[in-house]
Amino acid sequence: MVSGAAIVLLIGLLGMVYQATQLPPPNLDDDSSSPTDSSSSRIRLSDGRYLAYRETGVPKDKAKHRIIIVHGFGSSKDMNFLAPQELIDELGVYLLQYDRAGYGESDPNPKRSLKSEALDIEELADKLQIGSKFHVIGVSMGSYATWSCLNYIPNRLAGVAMIAPVINYQWPSLPKSLIRGDYRRKIICLSLFLAKYCPMLLHWWVSQKWLPSNSVIEKNPAFFNNRDIDILKIIPGFPMLTKDKLKEQVVFDTLRGDWMVAFGKWDFDPLNLTNPFPQKTSSVHIWQGYEDKVVPSEIQRFVSAKLPWIHYHEVPDGGHLIVHYSGLCEAILKALLLGEENISYRPRSET
Ligand SMILES: *[C@@H]1O[C@H](CO)[C@@H](O)[C@H](O)[C@H]1NC(C)=O
Ligand SMILES: *[C@@H]1O[C@H](CO)[C@@H](O)[C@H](O)[C@H]1NC(C)=O
Repeated sequence: MVSGAAIVLLIGLLGMVYQATQLPPPNLDDDSSSPTDSSSSRIRLSDGRYLAYRETGVPKDKAKHRIIIVHGFGSSKDMNFLAPQELIDELGVYLLQYDRAGYGESDPNPKRSLKSEALDIEELADKLQIGSKFHVIGVSMGSYATWSCLNYIPNRLAGVAMIAPVINYQWPSLPKSLIRGDYRRKIICLSLFLAKYCPMLLHWWVSQKWLPSNSVIEKNPAFFNNRDIDILKIIPGFPMLTKDKLKEQVVFDTLRGDWMVAFGKWDFDPLNLTNPFPQKTSSVHIWQGYEDKVVPSEIQRFVSAKLPWIHYHEVPDGGHLIVHYSGLCEAILKALLLGEENISYRPRSET
């Protein structure tokens, strides 16, 4: 019974993780993170922590749009954002990816919170002098940091997109009727309990050999739809989630802390946010797969309906891995930067 639940929990974790995978596989063999032998550019935050980052696209001083990408659970600044190069050049897009605290080559933040994630983004933008306003794109669990930006630093935002963003079942305005029977809510409750009260047990358990191999879980239809499973055939497994990696205390602690902030109690309710851009100077978008089995589209639709200033886009045959689907990053940039809607992603009316 317990191990059954635990396996389901692991599959859930992987569901979150795969949102974050990348092509081609990054070289994470060298996991040292001391400032001296780091291979990435890093900036030092006011509390002394370093954040590693990666800049792509048009140089920032020539760019028309500056975008910070916030990666998901178990991922890093090396995740792919597959927008066509011509579009990036044509629109003048500067992309800034960074390792959230504790990931990749960034120092851990033992005091990680909803707010600290937004303030890290703001400080990164200021240290790199990308301007008073910038866009933020959050992927899967990285969207909690994005919601946090909407709440804490709205005046810094030039626009926001969230891709398959996490739902926190503790948001007070979610109706009980919508979430009561949701098996994902039960998995998350269990995982929070273990993370909070039995971290040693959880750590031991995730590094056990008798768990099914990743390849078995990858093809599990419990969390992935058909299109996701096709994607999983071409993207490599995620290096941070191998059993060897998970044995490392710093990796485990980062994942555990991130999970607890994302799914623990929030100090604001996103469904209560007022339109941060009443003058329509900027826009906020949610992108969701209709068939997403990790984050149910039914609840995402409810969230978007409560916040009519959010532009809601839906991939009809999309699962949780929509960011990897061809054409999607292009559609995301066109909607965010040009206000162009692709009608293929207009939500189907419910029958
Ligand atoms: C959200 O709004 C409702 C009603 O508008 C209010 O009762 C509730 O206290 C608010 N919750 C938070 C967390 O601000
Ligand atoms: C809209 O999206 C569909 C599906 O990805 C794509 O085939 C089509 O080219 C897109 N249309 C435009 C105008 O970008």
